[in-house]
Amino acid sequence: MHIEEHPGHTIGATVEDFDHTTASDADIDALLNTVYTKKIAVLKGQDLSPQEFLELGTRLGRPETYYEPMYKHPEVPEIFVSSNVPENGKQIGVPKTGKFWHADYQFMPDPFGITLIHPQVVPARNRGTYFIDMGRAYERLPEELKKEIGGTYCRHSVRKYFKIRPHDVYRPLSEIIDEVERKTPAVLQPTTFTHPMTGETVLYLSEGFTVAIEDQDGRPLDEELLKRLFEATGQLDETFEHDNIHLQSFEKGDLLVWDNRSLIHRARHTTTPEPTVSYRVTVHDARKLHDGIRAA
Ligand SMILES: [Fe+2]
Repeated sequence: MHIEEHPGHTIGATVEDFDHTTASDADIDALLNTVYTKKIAVLKGQDLSPQEFLELGTRLGRPETYYEPMYKHPEVPEIFVSSNVPENGKQIGVPKTGKFWHADYQFMPDPFGITLIHPQVVPARNRGTYFIDMGRAYERLPEELKKEIGGTYCRHSVRKYFKIRPHDVYRPLSEIIDEVERKTPAVLQPTTFTHPMTGETVLYLSEGFTVAIEDQDGRPLDEELLKRLFEATGQLDETFEHDNIHLQSFEKGDLLVWDNRSLIHRARHTTTPEPTVSYRVTVHDARKLHDGIRAA
């Protein structure tokens, strides 16, 4: 295994010759350390079967299977499928996932630390995923804004981007909304937390999932404050030219491993639809998202 950091970039490292079947525990530790410090590790030359992809993920942590069945890979349910390419006339997985700023499972009580993506069908033109490092984005906030959010909490919910499932057709919208609020009630997290692996302060919010901010006594704060935070971190920049935004490209055979604690991401917007298929495995590493979440 050979790890090469991308010179001149704070985000990203390339990993050559990684074989999850022969990697030593020290190799795994080194890979994880790269993910925490460089945020994205691109493992080259992977081309794994769904089962092998899951096995690789399992070397990094305990897999979390997505809670909604329509995203699951038919043979390996731990794999989340994003696809706009039907197989034998049948839709597998869900098309156009994640076209909004978010951290994976941010709306759940116990989000995992690591996301792995193994692109299967790579679009010819608009490839890549946008990322913002919310540790770095926090550092760059104006001091007054940092002070203003000290001790506050944010509420995260899936409600804005929950996708209607096949069996929701003909159901009243109010019934679907009630079910979403019952099954996945909004979750409260501190607005900033200490990354348990790096010690950095992470600003944990996203335009896609964060729906409210409140003070330490649970009193709602002005929505304008959330908007200012989205703006300052680059999440409202539809040109994607904000200094905080990193476009991570990939090619067939790549496998991306990233730090789901400090990175938020967004699928690239495409005006012309191109075939795109990617598989995702998500894992809990040795620690919770942050130390304020208790082990079950
Ligand atoms: Fe995602």
